[in-house]
Amino acid sequence: MEPRAFYVAGRPAHGEDELTVTHPYDGQPVGRTTLATADQVEAAVAGAARVAAEAATLPAHARAAALDHVSRRLAERADEVAALITAENGKPVKWAKAEVGRAVSTFRWAAEEARRFSGDLQRLDTDPAATGRIALVRRVPRGPVLGITPFNFPLNLVAHKVAPALAVGTPIVVKPAPATPLTALLLGEILAETDLPEGMFSVLPLPNERAAELVADPRLPVVSFTGSGPVGAAIRRAAPDKHVTLELGGNAAAVICADWSADDDLTFAAQRIATFSNYQAGQSCIAVQRVYVHERLYDSFLPRLVAAVRALRTGDPRAELTDVGPLVSVEAAQRVETWVDEAVAAGAVVETGGRRDGATYPPTVLSGVPADAKVCAEEVFGPVLVVAPVADDRAAFAAVNDSAYGLQAGVFTHRLDVAFDAARTLEVGGVIVGDVPSYRADQMPYGGMKGSGVGREGLRSAMDDYTEPRVMVLTGVPL
Ligand code: SIN
Repeated sequence: MEPRAFYVAGRPAHGEDELTVTHPYDGQPVGRTTLATADQVEAAVAGAARVAAEAATLPAHARAAALDHVSRRLAERADEVAALITAENGKPVKWAKAEVGRAVSTFRWAAEEARRFSGDLQRLDTDPAATGRIALVRRVPRGPVLGITPFNFPLNLVAHKVAPALAVGTPIVVKPAPATPLTALLLGEILAETDLPEGMFSVLPLPNERAAELVADPRLPVVSFTGSGPVGAAIRRAAPDKHVTLELGGNAAAVICADWSADDDLTFAAQRIATFSNYQAGQSCIAVQRVYVHERLYDSFLPRLVAAVRALRTGDPRAELTDVGPLVSVEAAQRVETWVDEAVAAGAVVETGGRRDGATYPPTVLSGVPADAKVCAEEVFGPVLVVAPVADDRAAFAAVNDSAYGLQAGVFTHRLDVAFDAARTLEVGGVIVGDVPSYRADQMPYGGMKGSGVGREGLRSAMDDYTEPRVMVLTGVPL
């Protein structure tokens, strides 16, 4: 197993200290790389700063061509990339394939947005003194981006930092999660096949402690971070003068409204919730964690939910049929186990579940959970679902909002008035009507309120985020 190269200002490189990546399911080594040295980090940042002005003038066709190339190559290498995601992250291969498909589309969308990204024309002659004046409002890059990415989507959440940066013509330095750097390095390999100028991208494997030096570096004025709340807060404190985007956690909720009462409705909702509380072993910021069910429907819904969760196949994530694999590490599974045990000690009932086996934690449904138990109030990031009856839809919305987080919510209703009421009332970045909160299309604005972060990803939203408006006012124009 040769160590995989990382990328410094677009060129392959090797560092001094080795990093061995292991399979979360069986602990076997699946790949090696090396950590970037201080000199290599400096070369990456200097390269980004050096190329920034040239990058901002790259024509749209050049930016789009590079992005289209990445999209095409990911599609061509899809099986290999999916196997690598499964190997280092442990997510079932069917979800890894879905992630690759999404990244193909993320880069393709970015290419399309790069072609469209033109700015606006604004009339100024709404005031007599401004007769003959018009403004051209374009967006210019704020400067090189530092992208810090998490382990749970080792490809697509890297894509959501890299693709919009390239689309607007700004360099990016990526620090992937130490548990899952290999897929980001493979992406670096594909990026290196493009004609992007030297310095446009770097991918640097580094331990988390060394992210601070990058966060502090003034040559990277934009920081885009996806990860935990405490780290996000530390970044904000450490870089008050930078433009910081934070995609943090959530304890996403689904609501079964009063009108969602037909047998087929309840079965559908139970199956969707079972699947999306446990996909990737619950390690998604929008995995369903809480379910609030109208009290009239609760007794009919709960057995369907339990049956749907029990039907999930847990096991080796390399097997095509596996629904639920391991968590990213034994420590992560132990933390989930501790939180469930605490909830049970506080009165929760285990409707279905089982015993932890190494890094694998069984899909678990809990009822009777106190609202302040960690499995309900914090982000569990594991295959654990809390279900509770509520008096009516408004009580359900209040329960959803009774959270430090606000990323997305799912509202199962057929009624337009209830859907609009939910969209107005719920303190979240996105309301998914008729489905789970876990739905995300990669082009849509994605991000949260409260403890779930600041800013939005989704190609166009991130492109706006990485740029600022520059106005050119023309005078004496015959309008
Ligand atoms: C996340 O965990 O925040 C990303 C979810 C997704 O992209 O589906």
